Amino acid sequence: MEFNWTHGLVALITLCFLILFHRKKAAAGGKKQPPAPPGWPVFGNLFNLGTMPHRTVAGLAAEYGPIVRLKLGSVNTVAILNVKAATELFKNHDLTFVDRTITETSKSHDYDKSSLALAPYGMYWRVLRKICTVEMLVAKRINESTSVRRKCVDNMLSWVEKEASVVKVGSGIHIAKFVFLASFNMLGNLMLSRDLANPDSKLGSEFFTAMLGLMEWGGHPNISDLYPWLKRFDLLGLRKKMDTDMEKALEIATGWVEERVEERRREVAHLGERRKDFLDVLLDHHEGTRKDEPERMSHRDITIFILEIFLAGSETTSSTIEWALSELLRCPEKMARAKDEIALVIGPDQKLEESSVENLPYLQAIVKETLRLHAPIPFLVPRKAGQDTNFMGYHIPKGTQLFVNAWAIGRDPECWENPNSFEPERFLGSKVDYKGQHFELIPFGAGRRMCVGVPLAQRVLHLVLGSLLHEFDWELESHVNAETLDMKDKLGIVVRKLEPLKVIPQKVN
Ligand code: HEM
Repeated sequence: MEFNWTHGLVALITLCFLILFHRKKAAAGGKKQPPAPPGWPVFGNLFNLGTMPHRTVAGLAAEYGPIVRLKLGSVNTVAILNVKAATELFKNHDLTFVDRTITETSKSHDYDKSSLALAPYGMYWRVLRKICTVEMLVAKRINESTSVRRKCVDNMLSWVEKEASVVKVGSGIHIAKFVFLASFNMLGNLMLSRDLANPDSKLGSEFFTAMLGLMEWGGHPNISDLYPWLKRFDLLGLRKKMDTDMEKALEIATGWVEERVEERRREVAHLGERRKDFLDVLLDHHEGTRKDEPERMSHRDITIFILEIFLAGSETTSSTIEWALSELLRCPEKMARAKDEIALVIGPDQKLEESSVENLPYLQAIVKETLRLHAPIPFLVPRKAGQDTNFMGYHIPKGTQLFVNAWAIGRDPECWENPNSFEPERFLGSKVDYKGQHFELIPFGAGRRMCVGVPLAQRVLHLVLGSLLHEFDWELESHVNAETLDMKDKLGIVVRKLEPLKVIPQKVN
């Protein structure tokens, strides 16, 4: 009998469909899974993401609803896209999704083993988190370091003034660069009592460069995360680059920890004279625990935790300030209102102090509105399902990666009027804030894995933005105006402006 090619092809296609259908059903055990946009074999939905995945994934809600299933390479992922689903997640399923997905670059030099943000939900995480929330990032200790932050902001203001005096007339300065440096320096002072932005500190600048590398490689999409069986080839070379920069950063930070251990040994008699910084708190804990205690932090853990704080706190802060200024430059009347409020409360010849922020409701509203529209970590730090679970009627298998799209949630039209416009006024007289109780505003996440840095981030954001507004008048470069200012974003370790904001500062007399 002669082989009929047409019939053969039809049979083959039918067989493929049957196998695919069967596998899908089998994977879900016949249970209902969240809806998913069609994907490609092997690639899944990778091509759906584009260059701004937080936006494209948010856009899927219109067609597929607030819980969407995606296949990213070989990784099963579910994205949460509105306030209702986020509320259900944080209220009733936080524990199921309490662990993190671990990326390939974060395994460099066993970073993930000592990290707080990546630690499995267990004893080590609990102990480190408690040190942060009870000893390190609490109002009392943060208050003790007010003058450190003030000094770093004063430095930033003078860098800005100096840079403005040397650029061409009509050209602006790259403001986020200065805010980044100031935040980095502030963290260096709070944690290690070191001025890393000091141009004479060779080690400081080597550390800074290595940390920039960690942020770059850590924020880059990596084939090894999409297809874990390819990880040993390190096709994009990210792991290798990460290893090099991690080694450098660890070497320098280890030196600082060892130096401090030595210093403390010599200082025992008069320790009380020095302000305790974060490193002291961590070493106190290390020395206060028995060697065999399972939750004892090693010097290695402490060193890695120090790197983590730099990673967590510097780019998030500088991108928020850059977005806030960009939004204000597009709305001159809101800029004027913010400056008037500060001038009235602070007075022309005084500096803005942290203690004045409670009397600056419009400034506070600007910070909230900026974080609503531009959550710096739009998918939060990805979590994963610790067990099979039923989430709002959908079956989510163990191991599924979870993205909580804080960017989409901040713009959920069910919750926010004019969700895409910058209206700080919406927060005046409103109780909604970002501290994890209001699931419509979750730039710092919520639940057990919520950001531990909120008390510090809150101080720094208001101090930096308020001081920039109080000390300078701001203008766009001569070829840009409020309507043409580019507001496109790009996603790396945080969401930044695609085109860095260039602004012209004019010192207020
Ligand atoms: C504008 C500033 C900041 C933003 C927007 C931000 C945002 C976030 C987000 C979204 C998460 C994940 C939350 C979740 O999964 O639910 C997180 C976790 C974390 N953040 Fe922040 N953060 C900021 C500043 C800081 C600062 C200043 C520090 C430290 C001093 C810090 C330390 C951490 C740590 C250690 C975690 C991991 C917590 C855990 O997994 O238990 N962050 N942050």
